[in-house]
Amino acid sequence: MIELAFSILASDFSRLGEEVAIAASGGGTIVHVDVMDGHFVPNISIGVPVVKSLRAATRLPLDCHLMIENPEKFIPAFAAAGADWVSVHQEVCKDHLRETLEMIKAHGMKPGAVINPDTPVETILDVLPLVHHVLVMSVFPGFGGQSFIPHSLDKIRQLAKIRKARNLGFRIEVDGGVAHDTVASVVEAGAELLVAGSAIFSPGKTRQNAEEFLQLARAAAPSSK
Ligand code: DX5
Ligand code: ZN
Repeated sequence: MIELAFSILASDFSRLGEEVAIAASGGGTIVHVDVMDGHFVPNISIGVPVVKSLRAATRLPLDCHLMIENPEKFIPAFAAAGADWVSVHQEVCKDHLRETLEMIKAHGMKPGAVINPDTPVETILDVLPLVHHVLVMSVFPGFGGQSFIPHSLDKIRQLAKIRKARNLGFRIEVDGGVAHDTVASVVEAGAELLVAGSAIFSPGKTRQNAEEFLQLARAAAPSSK
């Protein structure tokens, strides 16, 4: 099922609850929360206290994308704050990716594995039976508003193929530069959880942006053809 995971990084943080409600009124069904630590990525964003406030403001799933080193240290805090999905980068977990994903699961949340544009799908083959979603980065993480890297489409196709061949159930999410002009290609490649920030949030236009984005995405879905 095609879903819009709107990235609040592009929203007006002074009116966060309202921004979430507007994006949801345009059809967004997942709140994508970008957590950055200034180490793994060259930027700092938001963390656990914001997740806690969001939990009180919405019933939509909170999809926390941890762009941080040592994510395992913070898993209990995210769980306590009310996070629903937590994804961690293969690049920071490497040899303990499985343990970290299992820890997320043991805390009652849905685990996701994230791969950067230069990280091959092969690095996460072992954990595919365990994850709820795989997040394919289509930009190098750290900032919103970057251009989509077309090579990510190959990785989405590869994951869709593996999922079918191995009869697995993980969902394929894509993040970075996904906008009205690129969304059809990611859906055609096999992604269904669509993260978008700058394409959605815009004063006075957020609802319409979300509606149009979803229309384009659904029109490109294999089931609608
Ligand atoms: C990038 C973040 C993304 C980002 C997407 O580091 O992980 O979620 O907010 O922003 P857009 O949609 O503007 O590329
Ligand atoms: Zn993200």
